[in-house]
Amino acid sequence: MLAVQTIAFPQYQSLGGLSQRELVQILPRFTPVTPPAPPGPPNDTSVKLVNDEAHPYIPPRNGDMRGPCPGLNTLASHGYLPRNGIVTPAQIINAVQDGFGMDNALAIRLVYGTMLVDGNPLTNLMSIGAKSSLTGPDPPKPAIVGGVDTHAVLEGMLHVLSIGDFFFGDNHSFNQTLFNELVAFSNQFGGGNYNLTVATEYRFHRIQQSIAENPTFSFISPRIVTAYGEATFPFVFFVDGRKADGQLSMKDALGFFRDGRMPDDFHRADASKTSDLVDNGVDAIFTAHPVQPGGNNGTVNSYTLDPNSAGINDTCKGYTDFVNVTVRSLYPNPQGALRNNLN
Ligand SMILES: *[C@@H]1O[C@H](CO)[C@@H](O)[C@H](O)[C@H]1NC(C)=O
Ligand SMILES: *[C@@H]1O[C@H](CO)[C@@H](O)[C@H](O)[C@H]1NC(C)=O
Ligand SMILES: *[C@@H]1O[C@H](CO)[C@@H](O)[C@H](O)[C@H]1NC(C)=O
Ligand SMILES: *[C@@H]1O[C@H](CO)[C@@H](O)[C@H](O)[C@H]1NC(C)=O
Ligand SMILES: *[C@@H]1O[C@H](CO)[C@@H](O)[C@H](O)[C@H]1NC(C)=O
Ligand SMILES: *[C@@H]1O[C@H](CO)[C@@H](O)[C@H](O)[C@H]1NC(C)=O
Ligand SMILES: *[C@@H]1O[C@H](CO)[C@@H](O)[C@H](O)[C@H]1NC(C)=O
Repeated sequence: MLAVQTIAFPQYQSLGGLSQRELVQILPRFTPVTPPAPPGPPNDTSVKLVNDEAHPYIPPRNGDMRGPCPGLNTLASHGYLPRNGIVTPAQIINAVQDGFGMDNALAIRLVYGTMLVDGNPLTNLMSIGAKSSLTGPDPPKPAIVGGVDTHAVLEGMLHVLSIGDFFFGDNHSFNQTLFNELVAFSNQFGGGNYNLTVATEYRFHRIQQSIAENPTFSFISPRIVTAYGEATFPFVFFVDGRKADGQLSMKDALGFFRDGRMPDDFHRADASKTSDLVDNGVDAIFTAHPVQPGGNNGTVNSYTLDPNSAGINDTCKGYTDFVNVTVRSLYPNPQGALRNNLN
């Protein structure tokens, strides 16, 4: 933040109109931040009280950023992240580890996958909600730096942490209609709770619904991978670690999804178990109703397979496409500090 405040001209000004030569002259004045190495795993990965006195729930004030990811909203409203919702990748990694017991490798993958498309690589800052001047001046277009809210501009990892897209639809605000639908599925398949069985049926329902209603529905890499991952998060990370039975009550779900609030006395999950729970969950959800990469072709009910997209298990092609297509589309020719930070 300090670096951003010392720059000599107005914040939140796009540098898109400037020539390469002008950029070379101006960029050094930003004192771009060199991102530190990602944090490692915490020493203490145990189940423990996280809704504690040091992390009280305080609802967001006017201007605080909140977005489509209930997990990030919750961490900000409990002070595991800066309460204004303007964060660095390292802060998110520490927060998801400390507050939810997320595995270090998973945290690193998700956080940098999101930072690269939604954050500002020059200042190392990202909004967990809408675009914000507090992330500093933007790198040249076509960079977007839109915050985690960014939608439909670029399909893919943009929604990597955005459980909200799955549960609330395109409008990232809490949507009672869609929550009621989730309650109905939880009653039908989970005895009133959200669990792996509910996730499986609800995920498939939402895909079928999109095929039937959205003429431009696209379900390709990396979205196809994150779509299954995010469906597992609530029953892995929002269930009290002392219980850890994969059954999330609708009362607790409402607190996380609508208010970004942990239940009283909430204990985080055992971080040594969460990676397997997510991976096994993804496999189970996919295997129950396998949907290969593809999309509608401009009309509804026209789902056509896309042989060029990585499948759910093609991690190597998925990674290459992410770097070479998704990130390159935002940063076609990065130089200097920008290039260094992206790398
Ligand atoms: C974790 O443990 C290592 C080795 O015991 C120690 O050097 C380090 O300071 C500890 N880190 C924290 C955050 O407690
Ligand atoms: C999203 O939903 C909220 C709350 O229901 C509403 O106030 C807002 O106008 C909606 N935004 C859009 C873009 O539809
Ligand atoms: C909530 O979701 C429903 C179902 O997709 C949609 O029809 C409705 O417009 C949404 N409400 C808001 C406020 O976005
Ligand atoms: C989900 O809940 C239902 C109803 O209690 C149960 O039959 C099912 O086995 C549960 N699924 C999992 C994976 O816990
Ligand atoms: C889209 O798919 C539908 C159904 O498979 C097909 O009838 C139609 O010709 C396709 N349209 C285009 C533009 O490919
Ligand atoms: C993906 O790989 C895992 C682990 O090797 C395997 O269990 C699973 O069946 C595979 N899924 C698909 C869709 O191929
Ligand atoms: C990456 O993209 C460049 C330019 O579009 C292309 O020449 C290169 O073959 C791609 N590399 C891989 C590994 O796909």
